[in-house]
Amino acid sequence: MPVQYFDETRLFCLTTATTAYLFQISPDGQPLHLYWGAKLPRIEDYPLAPPDRQHSSFNATLHQNMSEYLCRSGIAEYEPSLRVTFADGVRDVRLKYLSYRIEGESLSVRLADIFYKLELSLEYRIVPECDMLARRVTVYNNGQEPITLEQILSASLPLAPDRGDYRLTHLSGAWACEALLERCAITPGRKSLEGRLNYSGHAANPFFALDLVDRAGQGAGESVGEVYFGALQWSGNWKIVVEQERAAGKRTRVAGGINDFEFSWQLGASNSFETPWMALGYSNAGFGKMSRNLHRYVSEQLLPPQFAHELRPVLYNSWEAVFFEVNEASQITLAEKATKLGAEVFVVDDGWFGERHSDRAGLGDWQTNPAKFPNGLKPLIAKVNTLGMDFGLWVEPEMVNPDSDLYRAHPEWAYHYPNREPITGRNQLILNLCREDVQDWMLGWLDALLSKHNIRYVKWDYNRAISEIGWTDGAQSEIPVRHVQALYSIVAQLRAKHPYVLFEACSGGGGRADMGMLTHFDHVWTSDNTDPLDRLLIQQGYSLVYPPKTMYCWVTATDWNAGNYSLRYRFHSSFMGALGIGTNLNSMSEQNLAEAAALVAQYKQLRPVIQHGNFYRLTTLGEKEVQAYQYQREGEGVVLAFGQRYHFWKFLNRLRLYGLEAEVLYQLEGDLMKDEPRLLSGEALMRRGLVPKLEHALSSALITLHKI
Ligand code: DGJ
Repeated sequence: MPVQYFDETRLFCLTTATTAYLFQISPDGQPLHLYWGAKLPRIEDYPLAPPDRQHSSFNATLHQNMSEYLCRSGIAEYEPSLRVTFADGVRDVRLKYLSYRIEGESLSVRLADIFYKLELSLEYRIVPECDMLARRVTVYNNGQEPITLEQILSASLPLAPDRGDYRLTHLSGAWACEALLERCAITPGRKSLEGRLNYSGHAANPFFALDLVDRAGQGAGESVGEVYFGALQWSGNWKIVVEQERAAGKRTRVAGGINDFEFSWQLGASNSFETPWMALGYSNAGFGKMSRNLHRYVSEQLLPPQFAHELRPVLYNSWEAVFFEVNEASQITLAEKATKLGAEVFVVDDGWFGERHSDRAGLGDWQTNPAKFPNGLKPLIAKVNTLGMDFGLWVEPEMVNPDSDLYRAHPEWAYHYPNREPITGRNQLILNLCREDVQDWMLGWLDALLSKHNIRYVKWDYNRAISEIGWTDGAQSEIPVRHVQALYSIVAQLRAKHPYVLFEACSGGGGRADMGMLTHFDHVWTSDNTDPLDRLLIQQGYSLVYPPKTMYCWVTATDWNAGNYSLRYRFHSSFMGALGIGTNLNSMSEQNLAEAAALVAQYKQLRPVIQHGNFYRLTTLGEKEVQAYQYQREGEGVVLAFGQRYHFWKFLNRLRLYGLEAEVLYQLEGDLMKDEPRLLSGEALMRRGLVPKLEHALSSALITLHKI
């Protein structure tokens, strides 16, 4: 039973495969957190009352410290999850327990303010098979007067005190270096991870992991140690706050949800507001198990069902080959070569519409440029289809260039303040997606485009951060939420009408890589940085949270590090997720084209294991010299190992594999050191391991395992 309720103690116990999460309604009607961690044999094994610690008149009460959802009320030390202003100006919320409801794997606990007509439902969804749960809240205004929501997070909870120190692992970055690993010790004070620019952002990813550091200073590893983690299913402004107080045994709390920055929401009479879900998990077997649980959760619970279990196609994308110089002839030449390489989808990127010859003009004018495509897109699509590929197209629907017919006709459609010049980013402005006329227009042209053409793949881009978050006729402080709600709704409507179309989420690379997008889109364009060595760091960070099959990795000619990479190294780096090719095929020699075609064919053979298998990091996060990964699907495995740096004096550590059957023999093939055995038991591979053949800094190894 994933949800149990014990009436006598008013105790809720939520269990997944290996974890348990407990809270209780106190005698005075407060939901107090009791436990989150490993599942224990008996209910009596859990702490069944909150710790009774002394506090002073300077500190928040015990109730607040242990609150399952902290409201702005009383002495408020910690980040509140709920802050409101009632119509009479009162800003204090005092909730008391009303009732609960259990429906299968869902629990909701209803609370109500002791005076005002505000009710709150704490909602829990347990996903036992992914070893995870998700939390969100819905707030109801049952009165006649409006209530202003100033902050409403999805979840907050205290973490077990007295168990050691916590270390935070998170992902941070910028354009072209998304999802880089960051680690820091949690010390008294507040650490806030945030997105504030109307998209989840390049700078930080809405994910956290807190592992316990033991008294010897040792944190969790890939397969050992305890890790608490979570991620927000939201693509707009967000925040995750981790805070620790010195008193009360250095109690640590974590909270997350929609960012209160630039946000407030008028909750009218008889209205409700639902937060996004925050997915939460605990691993007692290190970061490896954390990643696999997150991957399963995204794949099985979130990804749009049409393609959730389908293999992602090998794609060719025109961007780095021709940038804005797309036209029928240039694309046909590329398509003829792409099909020979084995591409399955041919995606025409930016530049096909309006007066789009550079990033200075054209966004908003979504008609084919007649000089580039005199007969529209249909002849090119037909040609691509004849060559055996599906056709895909780039769009950036939420943006407009001031130099466009759309902007000339509707300057009021862009977010703006009437009394100041809007600041452009990449020469563009953001369309006000909160307006119904903008939504209708957007849905209209996208639907028409997909209805009239055989388009099977849409790359949906978003290339700037917001500046003037202004809207003269609407609630400006609701923009950060309404924009994202409208985006989700438009994509959902398009998907319902065009269920055979794959949708890729892109934001100048990986600026919108989050669980919200992965609920509406099938995968993500990971980064505009396609240097294969840089990409290893970005891909390591992305795959920490999100499944490899949702991570598109293109092979290009980029070489920011003067690595002079072999074609094999470039391909192997891109084998880590869903394979794409983004290089100018016209500049490749016949020999390189033939080698590339063989590598694509090899990827296709390995793809079911890479895309549907379990993912294991064989080197620890942040290791500087070698990165290695294993993908394992039943008896079939793929190991990818990459040299990053090399020191002559160092021997490569053996890589111990995971997830094999101990007694069974595995046949190994590929780039192993010459004296390495080719037939080993699962036990030997998991205990002794193997040594890949990595001969210099930028060499890569690919090894396959086959169960005998
Ligand atoms: C940013 C994307 O990340 C690129 O792949 C490309 O689509 C450009 N935009 C096009 O403007």
